[in-house]
Amino acid sequence: MGRPGQSHIMSSRYNPVTEQVVEELAGIVGAGNVIFGDAERLATFSHDEIPDPSYAHTPEVAVRPAGAEEISRIMKLANRLHIPVTPRGAGSGLSGGAVPIFGGIVLDCSRMNRIIEIDRANMVAVVEPGVITNELANAIRENGLFYAGYPMSLETCQIGGNVAENAGGGKAVKYGVTGRYVLGLEVVTPKGDIVSLGGKLVKDVTGYDLIQLMVGSEGTLGIFTKIILKLLPLPKAAVDLLCLFKTVDQAIGAVPDMIAKTGIIPTSIEFMDAQSVQAACKYLNESLPYQNCGAMLLITVDGADADQVQRDYETIGEACLAAGAFEVYVADNHTTSNRIWRVRQNIPEAFKLVSPQQSGEDIVVPIASIPQIVRGMVELAKKWDVLIPCYGHAGDGNMHTRIVKNPAWTASQWKERLPLILTDLYKITIDLGGTISGEHGIGHKRKPYMTLARSSEYLDICRAIKKALDPNNILNPGKIFDL
Ligand code: LAC
Ligand code: ZN
Repeated sequence: MGRPGQSHIMSSRYNPVTEQVVEELAGIVGAGNVIFGDAERLATFSHDEIPDPSYAHTPEVAVRPAGAEEISRIMKLANRLHIPVTPRGAGSGLSGGAVPIFGGIVLDCSRMNRIIEIDRANMVAVVEPGVITNELANAIRENGLFYAGYPMSLETCQIGGNVAENAGGGKAVKYGVTGRYVLGLEVVTPKGDIVSLGGKLVKDVTGYDLIQLMVGSEGTLGIFTKIILKLLPLPKAAVDLLCLFKTVDQAIGAVPDMIAKTGIIPTSIEFMDAQSVQAACKYLNESLPYQNCGAMLLITVDGADADQVQRDYETIGEACLAAGAFEVYVADNHTTSNRIWRVRQNIPEAFKLVSPQQSGEDIVVPIASIPQIVRGMVELAKKWDVLIPCYGHAGDGNMHTRIVKNPAWTASQWKERLPLILTDLYKITIDLGGTISGEHGIGHKRKPYMTLARSSEYLDICRAIKKALDPNNILNPGKIFDL
């Protein structure tokens, strides 16, 4: 199993970006929107949020197009000259999706940041890909509307990236993931054609569902230039519960049958072990009550009716107490809610600062197996003598485990052992009916492990699709699977 990294040998498969290519690009997007020969600025396009710099690769040039026509021309040029193109949103990804591993052109979508339309009657928004997720949520709130996507990076991530990765996040228990809300797309294909898919329609079975093929395709099948999103009425009430447990086992044990037992679907059921809470509190200079306890559940309940929400959170709180919580705090105002959610949102950033030698994982299992997977991680940590803090979206089965290098190991021991630990981790997950990524994607980070999770027949279909849409392998090559 090879470890992905920088490869100059591989980049020789493509042609270099010459001064002449740069001139042609400037003719398309304008010279001010081409970044070339500026190592420092280009380096900002070399990585996403993976802490380990060995996954990074600097592009030869970055361009900032204004829309579909320009992107179409860039893709035609890239096919003609055989230069790879890697689309990029905010760079908040966690699997290397936006990393140009063969160099070439990075296509930064952040200038395309207009909310084109908020159509209240049809309950949809039409947006460009560079709109920041939280800015959309804020812009529609005053119209009494709600966008359900809630990745933890919502203050920086962009809708285009959310669609490309099929981002999940903290509200998937009740609202599902990004793909559920994508009703339409305008896409520039790898060959440079501009195609409209779907529309403002709740139902549409006119041919293959290419929208859901594009969703989660990690920038390998098309570049989104317009996105039509389904909106919901803004919930009128929301309350958070912070449920404290003495042990990890008690906390995670309370999760699987919570919905079945109470008949209530909470918005969020987030799990944080002690290491995760403490790391984030330290990073934020924040403190939570009993932050040294074994583990916490952060549970949100929302709805259209405040009395109903109160009845619901009381029932859920009682269920947590019955499952062994020693304390349940109710946060029913914005300030307290934000403080608690900030701790949860900042766990990845807090860990990232600890050391680059760690691997942030994103495993997912059927919800009933969530206690077993967390127990499995405790065993795995013992077996390999590493720390494996766990936190994440327990209510939908998606757990973020981080494998942190044992400080006693040398860099080469870490390099040797990490793939073995990951293989163990993924096998435990797959044995429980789960898979290797729930929301962060494969990119080049998890590509070597795809065969653990997917059959050769499945991968053959994916290769056939990729070749049909991108015969020259121009768009984000080297991601998800090898051709
Ligand atoms: C989170 C990101 C890492 O849930 O997915 O914190
Ligand atoms: Zn997450």
